[in-house]
Parts: sequence; structure tokens; C-alpha cells
Amino acid sequence: MKSNELTRRVFLQQSSMAAASVVTASSLPSLTLNAPKRRVAMVGTGHRGTSMWGIPVVQEFGDIVDFVGLCDKNIGRATTAQKLMNVTCPVYTDFDKMMRETKPDVLIVTTVDATHDQFIIKGMEMGADIITEKPMTTDETKCRAILDAEKRTGKKVTVTFNYRYSPHRQKLYELLREGVIGTITSVDFHWYLDIHHGADYFRRWHRLQENSGSLWVHKASHHFDLLNWWLESEPEQVYAQGTLDFYGKKGPFRAENCRSCSHKKDCNFYWDITKDKRLTALYVDNEKYDGYLRDGCVFKDDVNIDDKMAATIRYANGVNVSYSLTTYSPYEGYRIAFNGTKGRLEAWIKETGKMPIEAYDELMLSKNFGEVEYIKVPQAEGHGGGDARLRDKIFRNPSTPDAFRQTAGSRDGAMAILVGICARKSKQTGQSVRIEEVSGLKPKAIKG
Ligand SMILES: NC(=O)c1ccc[n+]([C@@H]2O[C@H](COP(=O)([O-])OP(=O)(O)OC[C@H]3O[C@@H](n4cnc5c(N)ncnc54)[C@H](O)[C@@H]3O)[C@@H](O)[C@H]2O)c1
Repeated sequence: MKSNELTRRVFLQQSSMAAASVVTASSLPSLTLNAPKRRVAMVGTGHRGTSMWGIPVVQEFGDIVDFVGLCDKNIGRATTAQKLMNVTCPVYTDFDKMMRETKPDVLIVTTVDATHDQFIIKGMEMGADIITEKPMTTDETKCRAILDAEKRTGKKVTVTFNYRYSPHRQKLYELLREGVIGTITSVDFHWYLDIHHGADYFRRWHRLQENSGSLWVHKASHHFDLLNWWLESEPEQVYAQGTLDFYGKKGPFRAENCRSCSHKKDCNFYWDITKDKRLTALYVDNEKYDGYLRDGCVFKDDVNIDDKMAATIRYANGVNVSYSLTTYSPYEGYRIAFNGTKGRLEAWIKETGKMPIEAYDELMLSKNFGEVEYIKVPQAEGHGGGDARLRDKIFRNPSTPDAFRQTAGSRDGAMAILVGICARKSKQTGQSVRIEEVSGLKPKAIKG
């Protein structure tokens, strides 16, 4: 066998990346200049609502977008969001009233996951297109109801899968489409959440399956969407296992929340939320309205989601995936390898938060009987640069070509959560579960 040679190349935003690059306002056709501004409302004005959609949309798209209403069940948080976003539109706790009075073209849904369906459906019924955060919803009944409502109303649901937009994930998509490893046959995909970010899911509303659908749906649906997208196929069947080994009841001691805890000195997870001005303004200052504690104890007895999980997924195009998620790792990141008939494409991504200048993610391409090539993709901040590129696509460039199929609709939203929903069921029954039997949707392999 010929020994593997080593080559290195830096991927410098050329070629097809340029095709997907951001179109600036000055390069837009003039017909958009005199168009009326899009009337946008938001329900769920917490962290994601304000930081991903509120403040940046006001700052970046003020020339084409007007916020006309903000709604949250916590009036204090809605008012705080209004200040953070520097807008004067009215704030509401009554969603129907907001929709009736403000008549938005677009509704942004950034509430707790298990409540998305009610706002998505009613929002469309009251005349708006929907931009919803992932996961689209948390169970198969709500999923079906959203798909039916979209058909019935003729409105459109966009699911904001920002992970698709990071440059190195896009590069993986592009290389796979070029056929660099031949036909993809299997994938090894392992994701690690660290003792800061991972633990944070156990402090918040996410720790209850009735809110988040569990991390199988809330978090892993991001990863399942990436797989569905990279593989250009929908998932067909899932076998899964998962347990709670570290947080919740498994912890050494517990309290209601960090501020009231008597174990502050002994607990590695002690966190003083009041040191963060923004989080204090959003949550601590508004506890009086709903009692929600953003700094909940990660060892609370009521945690009812898994913190370690593994699944085997079969795709409609015959690809087998081996997936796992761990939520108490020393570092944050993931390993992925695509195995194909002509080689293997892999990446080990260690997320470092703030990026040093000229930081790269490295992909390794090994050809059967051939060479090994390292491909460097420049890193970017904000979910790997995905957040800003997604906003641009939605608000500035909705009709530019979608060269890498990054725009996601309700079917993509459904297929991502259905893997997690089937995994939950598989774990309970010990049997593998078919997407079609749970959802009534027949999985398809998509040709790009
Ligand atoms: N794409 C990503 O990378 C990403 C990152 C973070 C969060 N998210 C998603 O964004 C959404 C919001 O998450 P977050 O971290 O901002 O949570 P959060 O708790 O900060 O905000 C949720 C807000 O919804 C409000 N709310 C809950 N139920 C409501 C109801 N019935 N009516 C009106 N308001 C209600 C809460 O009061 C809160 O202000 C979630 O769906 C989450 O999955 C996505």
C-alpha cells in the first residue's frame, strides 16, 4: 500500500464560499430601497430573543425592519428587552392582543421550547410568517399541528438552524458534495458540552423535559439537523440509550439556587449571577413577576433529563450514524468523521469562546490508498460565525441563491426534532423506533 503523504492548505474564503458571502446593502438592487419596512414582532424576550434577534436586528437592519411589538409572560423582561433593544414599540403579556394590535408581517418565536407550537400556529393564523428558534417544538403531536397549520394558512415557518452557517461546517458540506470521500456510508459524531455551558442547561428551565423536550430535543436537534443537512437525507430509524449520571439527584448536595445555597464554598458549580449585569437585568430583577430562578441548582432533585446519551441512527440513503452527547466534559467541542467508499473526512473542533486572531478549524481528509490533507478554515465568533450569516440571509438577502441549502423550513425542523423524539421513545422501550411510525412523515433522501 502506498504510504500516506501529508499536505496542508488553508481555505481562504475563496471559490464557492464567496458565492455564499454576505451581500452588502450597497450591492442590493435598488427596488428594495423604497419597499416598506418589514413589521416584526417577538414573543419570548429573554437571552436569545434579545441577543440574537433583538439588539442585532435593530442595529443591522433598522433600514428595512421595524419592531412593532414585544411580548413575554414576564412583563419585567419584556420591558427590559425594550430598553436593551432601544426600541419604543409597545410591550405585551397578552400575545393575541399584540398580534391584533400590531399586525406583524413576521413573528419571531423565542420562548421556552415546549410553548413554541402555540405561538407558531396562532401567529400564522393571525397573518404572520414565522421565524422560530430551534427546536421547532418538543413532541410529535405539536410537530404535526405546526405542519398542518403552515399548509392551512399558506404562511411560512423558518427554523433558525444557525449551526449550518458556520464556515467550517459549510466547508464540510461542500467537500462532501464534491465527493471527496466517494459515497458516504457512515458517520461517527460525538459532542461534548463542558462543565460551564453543559451545566447551564441543568440550572435553567431546560432541566425539565416538559419545558425542553430533554436535551435529546433541545440540544441534540442542532446536531441531528447538521447530520440531515450534511448527508442530504432524512433520518429513518433510531435506537438510543441515555441516563442521568452526574447532575440532579446524582450530585453531592443541593439547594434551590446558587444565591440561597449553603454549600457555596464546597460547590464547583457555584455561580454568582449578580456579577453579570445583563443577566441580572433580564432575570434577577424580574423574579418578582414569575419566580423564575436563572441560577437554579444543577443538583436539584427535579432534574428529569439525561446528561449522557448515545444513539444509532439509520438514514433513508443507507448511512449509519453513531452519535453521543456528554454534558460534563472538561472542554467544549465535538469530533466528527464521515466514512466513505473513497476515504474519510474528519474534524476535531474544540470551541474556545473568544477567538484569537487568525484562529482556524482544521479538517482532515484521508484518501484510501492516497494522501492525507489538512484543510484550515478561519474561525469566527457567534456560534462559529453562524449567527450573523443567518441574520443576513433572513433579513438582508432572503432571495439570494442558497448555494449550500442552509435555509431551513418546517420539514427540516420536524426531521431534526423527530430524531430526538424517537430517541426518547427508544430509550423507554429498549426498541429501535421508526420516524414514520411516530410522525406519519415518510423520510426521503434529498438530492442537492
Ligand atoms: N440557536 C441557538 O443557538 C439557540 C441558543 C440559545 C437559545 N435558543 C432557543 O431560543 C429560545 C429561548 O431560549 P433562551 O435561552 O432565550 O431562554 P430564556 O429563558 O432566556 O427566554 C425565554 C423567554 O420566553 C418567555 N416565555 C416562556 N413561556 C412563555 C409564554 N408562554 N408566553 C410568553 N413568553 C414566554 C420567558 O419569560 C423568557 O423571557 C429557546 O427555544 C432556545 O432553544 C437557541
